[in-house]
Amino acid sequence: METKPTPFLTDIQEIRRRAREHVEKGAVTPDYKADLQTALKLLNEALATEIVCTLRYRRHYYMASGIHREGVADEFKEHADDEQQHANQIAERIRQLGGAPNFNPEGLLTRSHAQYTEGDSLVDMIKEDLIAERIAVESYTEIVRWFGDRDPTSRRMMEEILAKEEEHADDMATLLETLDPRQPGNGAGEVH
Ligand SMILES: [Fe+2]
Ligand SMILES: [Fe+2]
Repeated sequence: METKPTPFLTDIQEIRRRAREHVEKGAVTPDYKADLQTALKLLNEALATEIVCTLRYRRHYYMASGIHREGVADEFKEHADDEQQHANQIAERIRQLGGAPNFNPEGLLTRSHAQYTEGDSLVDMIKEDLIAERIAVESYTEIVRWFGDRDPTSRRMMEEILAKEEEHADDMATLLETLDPRQPGNGAGEVH
């Protein structure tokens, strides 16, 4: 066995040292090109956004009333479940990157990009949800752009979530057109 120090041995030591670092850092290798602190901050903000959206949709699900309640409440419930699923995915990715998903209720609304607005009527609730979805679409587009080639795995996850938020926004816009007589092109005049 080689005993005297050689450049090769030095390399082995370096590889071992780096391997130990890899173990501590989990999925983050030296190839990871994003600024990790920023990546975790962005992902935790997205997590807060998803938690707030879950809570808002759930509240709307329980509070939906009026003759259109049934179809709309189902939609609220479906979206609440989607947002919960997004929160799970993001939390898992944060953990993979060696971070800690922030579920602290304190400061949740400050971290979240979207707001928690209760809304009095069914139309108000749908409007608030549409606004929140549009905010999510905008900020997730930014996040996707930021990850770019620096962290393709996080980028792909956020792209998938972004596509779902666009669907959500479209669902809410369609409901609003159907239910709100003030929307252009709707002459039915019937509200919730
Ligand atoms: Fe979501
Ligand atoms: Fe959404």
